[in-house]
Amino acid sequence: MVSVLDDGWLGEVLAQVAGASTLDALHEAAVELTGKRSALSAARQALGALPPDERRVRGQQLNDLRAQVEAALAERRSVLQAAQRRLRLAADRLDLSEVLAARAPRGAGGHRCVPGDGRWGRGRVHLVQRTRDELEDVFVGMGFTVADGPEVETDWYNFEALNMPPAHPARGMFDTFYLDVEPPDGVLLRTHTSPVQIRVLQRRRPPVYAVMPGRCFRRETPDARHLPVFHQVEGLVVDEGITFGDLAGTIESFTAAYFGADIDARLRPAFFPFTEPSAEFEVTCTICRGSGCRTCSHTGWVELGGCGMVDPAVLVAVGIDPERYGGFAFGFGIDRCTQMRHGIADMRVLLDNDVRILRQG
Ligand code: PHE
Repeated sequence: MVSVLDDGWLGEVLAQVAGASTLDALHEAAVELTGKRSALSAARQALGALPPDERRVRGQQLNDLRAQVEAALAERRSVLQAAQRRLRLAADRLDLSEVLAARAPRGAGGHRCVPGDGRWGRGRVHLVQRTRDELEDVFVGMGFTVADGPEVETDWYNFEALNMPPAHPARGMFDTFYLDVEPPDGVLLRTHTSPVQIRVLQRRRPPVYAVMPGRCFRRETPDARHLPVFHQVEGLVVDEGITFGDLAGTIESFTAAYFGADIDARLRPAFFPFTEPSAEFEVTCTICRGSGCRTCSHTGWVELGGCGMVDPAVLVAVGIDPERYGGFAFGFGIDRCTQMRHGIADMRVLLDNDVRILRQG
């Protein structure tokens, strides 16, 4: 065997390290080359028998050798670990190509390219998802950022922080699905996207201009305008000097951009505990063009959502000074927008999985 201080030793050792093909093999090599029973350790022990001068020179040589061997081991270890990570990622990889195909760019006329035209393959975006994408585009164009939050919420985010303490009568507006976990009635499926307002305000300081789309849940019997699982997009602006005029202007710009100029929108006074003053906003029913039909319960108008000036109590709940900052919020149904934009008389068809509907995505 070559001794540690022979010329060939280091080369041999480095080749051994480079040849270790698994992390286990490398670990064994490390024990053999640098452990207590290694030639390096034996050589260090033997130093004691040498005269001082020689001991110093040899000692230095041994230190250098050990440093080189350890550096080679570390380098090889990181190469093998990276390879192992790559393998693990490859094994975990999901094939999302169908989704990608569905999210492919639109063809002429704003429609997604259809299967069979040879360009995008299978998969479609559901009409509701398409509406959500388009609404996001409209708001991003107006300078808003997009945020989201969890569908399973705590009572505090869904109600309390929004100025609805336990037993507040306004909770009755939201027929809530509670989860069977501790504490009782403490965890629920969010009934609106408004809890995301709170989450955003906990993360960011004003100025905030954000929209928060997502899925919501209410114990509701499905009918022409309601589904127990539906989608909302929440909007929140918190800044200095915000007025109700900014809110009304934002809603008007969004309805004009999304529905086109021939749809009328109106605000009506309403009550929400987290905004004051509050309003509901409605658009002309596109099914009857305002003359009254089953879809709009013969009113000629369909409610899209609620809005108002953020109540100071909400700002206080997240530690923002209501003397300095104010804002507005709105929340409206994405499914309702889909329904009105595409003239769908009964919202339940959105969930029927009828291919004639699905193909339109
Ligand atoms: N969260 C309310 C609802 O679902 C709508 C709303 C949002 C009202 C924001 C005012 C401000 O009914």
